[in-house]
Amino acid sequence: MATGLILGIESSCDETAAAVVRNGREVLSNIVSSQVAMHALYGGVVPELASREHLRNIVPVVREAMRNANLTYADLDAVAVTAGPGLAGALLVGISFAKSLSFGLGKPLIAVNHLEGHIHAVLMQSASSINSNTPTLALVVSGGHTHLYLAQQNEGAWTYRNVGRTVDDAAGEAYDKVAKLLGLPYPGGPWVDRLSAFGDGNAVCFRFAEIDRGTPDAPSFDFSFSGIKTAVLRYVDTHGMRTDAEQRRATIAAATAAGTPLSLEQIRDLCDGRTLDLLSSFQCAVVQNLATTSLRAAARFGVRNLVISGGVAANRALRNRFEQIAAERNLTVAFPSPALSTDNAAMIAAAAWPRLQHGTFATADLNAAPQLRLG
Ligand code: KG4
Ligand code: ZN
Repeated sequence: MATGLILGIESSCDETAAAVVRNGREVLSNIVSSQVAMHALYGGVVPELASREHLRNIVPVVREAMRNANLTYADLDAVAVTAGPGLAGALLVGISFAKSLSFGLGKPLIAVNHLEGHIHAVLMQSASSINSNTPTLALVVSGGHTHLYLAQQNEGAWTYRNVGRTVDDAAGEAYDKVAKLLGLPYPGGPWVDRLSAFGDGNAVCFRFAEIDRGTPDAPSFDFSFSGIKTAVLRYVDTHGMRTDAEQRRATIAAATAAGTPLSLEQIRDLCDGRTLDLLSSFQCAVVQNLATTSLRAAARFGVRNLVISGGVAANRALRNRFEQIAAERNLTVAFPSPALSTDNAAMIAAAAWPRLQHGTFATADLNAAPQLRLG
């Protein structure tokens, strides 16, 4: 008799993660080993280094997840793993480990789409406030993805329809690139988020190039963030802000190398008013664009439940904006807790639960699917 205990494993990008979740909801353990400090030295994720670190970390991370859950491997009902999308070499570490473990234990293996995992990071925490018999609009907004899905549960199984996606950069990627341009640490999203509070979001007027909105009969809900990134670059150049940004980068790097990383206040003091205004204006424009497009889609599909997930869902301005809109329009909006916003394995185990109930298992030839799509 299944007790609903699933070990989830996630290694699609720069976090090696393992978690045990009962019945898709109860998190018994959730271990994340982040490589972010190592990749920060290079200003972005280096795929070869990511695979090597996953190899080094996977065994201790899984052991710790099992220890924290106070379980033995024999107690598990299934092993779930991220099959894609993500970095091929990174995905392969988690998949190879999960396959061997499930084979050795004689327990089923469940393949999970990373994007579905992000959606379940919210659903697992807010199932009571989300009516799963009507479609939910899910915005997955992270460093690699900006996607809109209509998600619906039919007889326990979730189905997804992709109704919008970025045609170029992901929103988190734009955050990271703008932060890098202004000499801020990697990953830049959390820094832009916190520093924006000290600037004026209306100081610089950024317009989103009108991407194809489709026709009235077939509207488009796609996103584009490369234009605003270029507009920030142009602003920095035309206002002579490059030298200051380089100095800021060098000061921050020197402090980090000396083992005394700068605090938010210290980094804020390295930014002049114009830089803080620029960051705040960039953030305002991105948040407004994400909110407007999501609302157009919600209205079009008659959806009353919104779910926002992925690393950028940790953004405070984004949360405030969506919560304000939801209150104005009587919509339900749900976010993951900060710990489940960024990559983790609890969301993978949660997404695997309906598959365990339906007996939908992966076979021994499961392979990494770097471009795996959802819906
Ligand atoms: O979901 P995630 O951990 O990894 C991917 O699947 O990409 O998302 C990481 C992304 C990075 O681009 C990071 O800068 C961004 O999420 N991010 C944020 C915030 N926290 C993380 N962006 C804006 N505001 C934040 N508070
Ligand atoms: Zn992710």
